[in-house]
Amino acid sequence: MDVKNHWENVYTTKAPDQVSWYRRHLETSLALIQRATPAHEASIIDVGGGESTLVDDLLLRGYKNLTVLDVSQTAIEVTKKRLGSAAEQVHWLVGDIVEIELEPQAYDVWHDRAVFHFLTTPERRVAYVRQVTRAVKPGGHVIVSTFGPEGPTRCSGLDVMRYDAGSLHDEFGRRFRLVESSKELHPTPFGATQQFLYCYCQLD
Ligand SMILES: C[S@@+](CC[C@H](N)C(=O)[O-])C[C@H]1O[C@@H](n2cnc3c(N)ncnc32)[C@H](O)[C@@H]1O
Repeated sequence: MDVKNHWENVYTTKAPDQVSWYRRHLETSLALIQRATPAHEASIIDVGGGESTLVDDLLLRGYKNLTVLDVSQTAIEVTKKRLGSAAEQVHWLVGDIVEIELEPQAYDVWHDRAVFHFLTTPERRVAYVRQVTRAVKPGGHVIVSTFGPEGPTRCSGLDVMRYDAGSLHDEFGRRFRLVESSKELHPTPFGATQQFLYCYCQLD
């Protein structure tokens, strides 16, 4: 099954709170974004936003220039429906982050929780990093969260990569200055815990 079909299948068969990555609020992401840029005009993209409530919380805090991208049209539609008329304030993109054409130097903040770790080939990882480097403004902020070294080896039936701050930073390279990293134990809705890593970098 290709990437798009896999995720469409997930989101057409599971309720938003019945997936392992579900959290009522993405508190750590939200705090890092607010720290990266308190300016409400900042252009922020949530890559692989899925059905998460991060966009709701960013709108509530006054952020006005938000883009949510996901490979699943279904996930985007669920999120739009939840937001109601507020969805009109958000830019929506459906596509594979490795392949989609993004506007150059468009974003002040790039956020990804639990997408990069699904890129299991060096070619797709290199394409992702090229995409970030092109789409984020010089001096912009890059927040990427993956499974940590003690995180699961599979998620949603797919193999994943696990990273510590050093190995994740190595994938991105020297143009990305590591500002901060932290680990979090995420309680899944099914009673397990998963180790996540958050890395916050600034682009040269
Ligand atoms: C584990 S979920 C995380 C969702 C959300 N970021 C969160 O933390 O709740 C991974 C998300 O990335 C999306 N995704 C997976 N591979 C992708 C790709 N190559 N391009 C864009 N989106 C992708 C999936 O559809 C899914 O919504």
